[in-house]
Amino acid sequence: MTGSAHAKIILIGEHSVVYGHKAIAIPVFDLTTRCTLKEDQENSVKSTLHTGNFTTLPETMNPLEKLVDSLQETYAFPPHTHTIESNIPIGAGFGSSAALATAVVRAYQAKYDLKLDDGALFKWVQYFERLTHDNPSGIDALTVIHDTPFVFSKEEKTALPMHLDAYLVIADTMERTPTKESVAHVATFGGEGFFTPLLNRLGALSEKAALSIRKNDVPKLADHMNRFMEGLRHLELSTETTDRYIETALERGALAAKLTGGGMGGCVIALTDTPDKAKSIEKAFVNTHNAPVWISRL
Ligand code: MEV
Repeated sequence: MTGSAHAKIILIGEHSVVYGHKAIAIPVFDLTTRCTLKEDQENSVKSTLHTGNFTTLPETMNPLEKLVDSLQETYAFPPHTHTIESNIPIGAGFGSSAALATAVVRAYQAKYDLKLDDGALFKWVQYFERLTHDNPSGIDALTVIHDTPFVFSKEEKTALPMHLDAYLVIADTMERTPTKESVAHVATFGGEGFFTPLLNRLGALSEKAALSIRKNDVPKLADHMNRFMEGLRHLELSTETTDRYIETALERGALAAKLTGGGMGGCVIALTDTPDKAKSIEKAFVNTHNAPVWISRL
């Protein structure tokens, strides 16, 4: 029995969403994680990261063990071998941990005909996310579970259908900082006078971006994304590498270019309005940085 989940990308609103502001995230269907279950004597995992029974898991996979233990305890399921296959880059802003948790829960759901609605699935995924970083907003969990873009805040979750004349070029810098660390880094600014006003500005930009999307106003959306990037820079979430990627995209005529997700590495996204320009930005990312690139229609 198999369960699967797709990746996500945040268009705008990362980090400020942790403090209650709105963010916009979209599903990325080309990237998925699958979990296949086979009943066994003891729990084990087969994946490119690690293969072995649960007693041999590296520390980074402890959340998986806890999720499985908790599912099996709650529903009296027997031990299983969990075969994980994924083409979602890890720690790059694609929501790989939320997708893994979703795939695992869905695999049990399918095998045991478990009646879990989206709300209950969300809770399981958030349980896993809390084990991987202290204060997950829930945006990753929500977007990997659903097939539509969302405007998300802790109070509001509204589907935001997109039919834009726009393309998103996503490039992986291959530089990595765990989300746990970038979220903790932002928290160190908590006592500074600039912090709350900056978060309020970022929150306002995400709200305006949602309005621009509803009006199919791509230049305005781009403007909000570029300004948001300035805020992320202020929070020291950019690196020399991500700045070089952003420069490459803007030089090739991207309307906007910014970090996505936790930052301090990870992926950079570039917004453009024609497929030809998207192709040209993709080529620049590959030629200049040898980067893995994906293009999404918005
Ligand atoms: C991570 O994809 C997005 C962050 O805003 C963290 C979160 O929302 O939990 C950095």
